[in-house]
Amino acid sequence: MTGYARITGTGSYLPDKVLTNRDLESIVETSDEWIVARTGIRQRHVAAEGQFTSDLALAASRKALAAARRTPDDVDLVIVATSTPDMVFPSSACLLQGKLGVTHGAAFDLQAVCSGFVYALATADLFVRSGRHRCALVVGAEIFSRILDWKDRSTCVLFGDGAGAVVLEASDQPGILSSHLHADGRHAGILNTPGHVCGGAVQGDPTLKMDGGAVFKLAVRVLEENAREALAANGLGIEDVDAYIAHQANVRIISHVAKKLGIAESRCVVTVDRHANTSAASVPLALDVAVREGRVKRGDTLLLQGVGGGFTWGSVLLKY
Ligand code: UT7
Repeated sequence: MTGYARITGTGSYLPDKVLTNRDLESIVETSDEWIVARTGIRQRHVAAEGQFTSDLALAASRKALAAARRTPDDVDLVIVATSTPDMVFPSSACLLQGKLGVTHGAAFDLQAVCSGFVYALATADLFVRSGRHRCALVVGAEIFSRILDWKDRSTCVLFGDGAGAVVLEASDQPGILSSHLHADGRHAGILNTPGHVCGGAVQGDPTLKMDGGAVFKLAVRVLEENAREALAANGLGIEDVDAYIAHQANVRIISHVAKKLGIAESRCVVTVDRHANTSAASVPLALDVAVREGRVKRGDTLLLQGVGGGFTWGSVLLKY
């Protein structure tokens, strides 16, 4: 392994349809006040009928490729992190590859729920640094609106649809410094969508179930530990992190972790108010927003973190 893998472009896409908290008041017994106070979420985007995860991924990927000044021909690895693929198979990564017109290299999906993008970026980093691939498209794309129980107010208000993508290329300049991935399958029961397809029919419940309180506590604990692990591995202090881009599930989780770590609120990127929880898409969406708003600049040190079902969590510390 030599050199680095470096992000050379970012992109994102949100479906046109916006569902506000007020809109949800006519679907379940909830209120804008409750949702904002408990989560920080004000609205979410929802995919149109006939729009699939690979379509969202395609729009985000095109923007990331344009930002990196690359064409689909340059891409030799496509990884899509998703828990809501277009179909059982082929992978959304292969469908995306086909829509982009890429005919070479490798393509596969990666399933680590809300930690998916961080897992995918860590995976792509190893592929690129090994020299086997030179230009990876790493995407987080989700349509969680289709796996929600729209009668369950404790979950349906929390999620949204969207996609984010980065182009990751071999470079002599510092890029990804380290990644730290974890999983603990003992906690599979606190966040899951237990249904599956068998004999042509869905068996079990195909909608998302969550013990919100248990997830909240575990998320805060592992995110803090994981951030400290990433910083220690690189001999860095929290003051060296220019932007903290954590999974966007609940602004209270981000604030709790930031407080424990001593990161200034001004360094925390927050998009959960606009996007809600877009699972594997949340981190690359937040990264792209931060880049395009000028909050993240070349040379900045970024701490990306994911956490979610599995239970899975992890971080990627990088120089942008
Ligand atoms: O991406 C994967 C990671 N997922 C997460 O990180 C989510 C983590 N968990 C959370 O963000 C929070 O636990 C929630 C936002 C899900 C819930 O917040 P909470 O402060 O833990 O509320 P709670 O579940 O303790 O519910 C408090 C009350 C309950 O009523 P009672 O029993 O006190 O009368 C709920 O029935 O709020 C009620 N409630 C609602 N009320 C209005 C639950 N959902 C709603 C709702 N609108 N949508």
